[in-house]
Amino acid sequence: MTFPEGVVIACDEGKPELPVAGSQYFFRFDWDKDLSRLTSWEEATHNGNTWEVHRDDGTTGFLVGVGVVPEYRGMRVSHNLRFGEHKISELLIAFVLDSLFNAGVERVIANARIPFYHKVGSEMRVEAYCAFRQEGKLFDPVLRFHERMGAKILKPVSYSMDDPESRNGGCWVVYERRFES
Ligand SMILES: CC(C)(COP(=O)(O)OP(=O)(O)OC[C@H]1O[C@@H](n2cnc3c(N)ncnc32)[C@H](O)[C@@H]1OP(=O)(O)O)[C@@H](O)C(=O)NCCC(=O)NCCS
Repeated sequence: MTFPEGVVIACDEGKPELPVAGSQYFFRFDWDKDLSRLTSWEEATHNGNTWEVHRDDGTTGFLVGVGVVPEYRGMRVSHNLRFGEHKISELLIAFVLDSLFNAGVERVIANARIPFYHKVGSEMRVEAYCAFRQEGKLFDPVLRFHERMGAKILKPVSYSMDDPESRNGGCWVVYERRFES
């Protein structure tokens, strides 16, 4: 692995035998805001072989995937990372965004799964699904999560990866640097 910092694991100290509660993987690469280069998750990550695309000085952070173990989803916990109680997903992404922006990236992008896409009629195109989500007309937990954390929708794509829940589709989202130092 060429970028070991790109793995963040959230652990439950109360369960030493099985401590993992969530994880977030990320890397850096060069992206010039050309939307046509944002195709599938598979292509962008070299099928998850991110060491092939990672650049230590890449301009753009890439969130490969965030996951919280089901029993911890929605649960609010205390951590010295942030004042008050927060979801593990929020702590993971806040930590990663801070790390990447402090290290100098200009923006952070992700190819979000759209796991409730299979619940809408098959005639609805992925562009309409993500637009309706943006307008608050339907619900998707992963898009909801990214939007709540401050991401903006960049570009829906009809093929991201083999993912039946998302009908193989996905949605590129971007986190812009909030404050210039
Ligand atoms: C994405 C993920 C990390 C979010 O974790 P989380 O924030 O702890 O998840 P939650 O259970 O709180 O769900 C997120 C939101 O969806 C809502 N939600 C979840 N299931 C819902 C449902 N069936 N109907 C309506 N709302 C639902 C929650 O209320 C929450 O909304 P809020 O932000 O207003 O509180 C978690 O869902 C996960 O690990 N998913 C599997 C892996 C994955 O798909 N990762 C994304 C890769 S791009």
